Amino acid sequence: MTPQVFAILSALIEEQLGIHYEHADANLLADKLTPRAADRGFESLLDYYYFLRYDPEASSELAALADALVVNETYFFREADQLAVLVSILTELKRPARVWCAASSTGEEPYTLAMMLRERGIADKVSILASDVSTRALSRARSAIYRGRSLRALPDAMRRRHFQVEGDALRLDESIRRAVTFRPLNLFDDAGVAALGEFDAILCRNVLIYFRDSGVSRVVERLTRRLVNGGYLLVGVSESLLRFSTALTCAERSGVFLYQRVDS
Ligand SMILES: C[S@@+](CC[C@H](N)C(=O)[O-])C[C@H]1O[C@@H](n2cnc3c(N)ncnc32)[C@H](O)[C@@H]1O
Repeated sequence: MTPQVFAILSALIEEQLGIHYEHADANLLADKLTPRAADRGFESLLDYYYFLRYDPEASSELAALADALVVNETYFFREADQLAVLVSILTELKRPARVWCAASSTGEEPYTLAMMLRERGIADKVSILASDVSTRALSRARSAIYRGRSLRALPDAMRRRHFQVEGDALRLDESIRRAVTFRPLNLFDDAGVAALGEFDAILCRNVLIYFRDSGVSRVVERLTRRLVNGGYLLVGVSESLLRFSTALTCAERSGVFLYQRVDS
């Protein structure tokens, strides 16, 4: 890939998906893009660039490209202390609540929350929307069949109560599957995010690490606008927002850090 093609392709990827590549990563990016471009029948990365920039079908290709660029790694009960605190907060709310899992990957995170809400007896009170830019991850989430590393932190009691064994895999029960609505959404799609309405809590965990600081700020601002006054944003445990100037207040509860929208 020539430096010029790297410059325009990496700028496009950062603008559309938030994912940042340094010049030193040019070969790494070329290794990921070249097979994708060839599969789609493009003779050069420059042709692929023009397609991504100008073709009406570019957004679905960008979603597929995100699969090649970002790790979908996730698992049930990941960073579950945060989710337990969120469940307590939602239990205290004396009205129906809306939660959005903003980079839900293959579904383990929103389904874990749905199980925890069920265990607490408040599943009917909370609606869960889950989204991801990757349509492949979303179709795996909808199929709700899991095996291997995805199950490594799943407590035995949850496994027994909410899954059926299917060969070497586990199928999540219909009642938990129905508690989560999945839809494709890119966190850099301003209009798409704005159309979602307001939430009492947003989970945006283990995805901000892929973005440059300017991208993190843009996404956090966009998500903050989607929180009700008093609503919470949860980011991954390794993704502190303290070095960013955000409109959110950092709150600590049972050793867990949350960011709260508090309008004056
Ligand atoms: C490592 S997974 C995190 C999954 C889950 N939140 C967790 O903490 O286990 C990161 C996910 O972010 C998604 N992602 C990356 N860039 C995105 C974007 N611009 N908009 C929406 N999702 C994005 C990826 O497709 C991937 O599924």
